[in-house]
Amino acid sequence: FDTVDIIRTKRDRGTLTPEQIDWTIDAYTRGAIADEQMAALNMAILLNGMDREEISRWTAAMIASGERMDFSALGKPTADKHSTGGVGDKITLPLAPLVAVFGVAVPQLSGRGLGHTGGTLDKLEAIPGWRADLSNAEMMAQLADVGAVICAAGAGLAPADKKLYALRDVTGTVEAIPLIASSIMSKKIAEGTGSLVLDVKVGSGAFMKNEDDARELARTMVTLGKDAGVNTVALLTNMATPLGLTAGNAIEVEESVEVLAGGGPADVVELTVALAREMLTAAGRPDADPEAALKDGRAMDVWRRMILAQGGDPDAQLPAARESETILAPADGVLAGLDALAVGVAAWRLGAGRARKEDAVQAGAGVRLHAKPGDTVKAGTPLMTLLTDTPEKFERAREALAGAVTVSPAPAAAAPLIIDRIS
Ligand code: URA
Repeated sequence: FDTVDIIRTKRDRGTLTPEQIDWTIDAYTRGAIADEQMAALNMAILLNGMDREEISRWTAAMIASGERMDFSALGKPTADKHSTGGVGDKITLPLAPLVAVFGVAVPQLSGRGLGHTGGTLDKLEAIPGWRADLSNAEMMAQLADVGAVICAAGAGLAPADKKLYALRDVTGTVEAIPLIASSIMSKKIAEGTGSLVLDVKVGSGAFMKNEDDARELARTMVTLGKDAGVNTVALLTNMATPLGLTAGNAIEVEESVEVLAGGGPADVVELTVALAREMLTAAGRPDADPEAALKDGRAMDVWRRMILAQGGDPDAQLPAARESETILAPADGVLAGLDALAVGVAAWRLGAGRARKEDAVQAGAGVRLHAKPGDTVKAGTPLMTLLTDTPEKFERAREALAGAVTVSPAPAAAAPLIIDRIS
């Protein structure tokens, strides 16, 4: 095959053959296609799209670039959740142990954050001693014993995607639905889960800013999952405002533990329970009552065992930021809007996230909210607290928040958290 021919085909809105796709992914992974050629092809795909057969083959080729995990030896159903990423999205932390309560194993391979959306591993690494890197054997043993594991994806899983995602990140080609769908689903299918629930976020803090794009991404991923024999369903959920009252690392762990203790913010509880029900139903346990397992301590028991199994101390004091600054409500009224992207960028600039892959994150940094949209606020009372170890970061965080807060005299209709379900 000739790489330039393949690029020209996509540039001119043609369709790639299965053989061209297999060859392209394999050659790129081996280093036989140059980054500039792959970047040009990605841009052509971003502009001209791919049809259902092309997306499916592209995904299969990325799966074939690495190992495929197999949990059949566990003798239990498996279910996983993937969120397309949002601000304050700590749902994986309470969700994985909650689902495991009911005998459904949760092999949750997660990532670190880049940009304004946080990474699940960064959050858990705020817990002293906790370790993200497990061997496949350790992962299996923990799934058999505890039933839930949240860990880093090994290098062997869809290596083509690792290379391709890094290239897309620096060439303006992340935001292509066929490329996002195949990237996410290649990893989830290779991971070997039996059921998969996708939380596709919509709104300023999400990849997908509008509902039509989010719906198309969700449909594409659900189709890919089902075609590969994974029981897949998607929820479209609101990311116009942060989830819960915290965006950061240690403070998100703290909020997750509140949910596991039967408390926590209503939106975090609602989404955790809704996703748990979907996972449990998909895995053959429609009778399970996840709300009860949050209230009676069973989910907390699994959480503690899950953290301990990975070297963490569930009773340890979490790191706290050295410095804080408070932002006050600008007027009396009802908080009508609190922009997710602005809060995410502020938390990131405070040190909760990283600008480059190799940067470290601050465990204690982030934004703590004191009010959510719909709450009544009083001028001059605290609206949020900015947290960091490095006070020179406050100024740019405040800049990110300029215009993020809307206070209106009258209550507005509340936006629903769960917008749609796609199966
Ligand atoms: N997350 C992924 O894993 N891949 C993408 O392409 C986008 C988000």
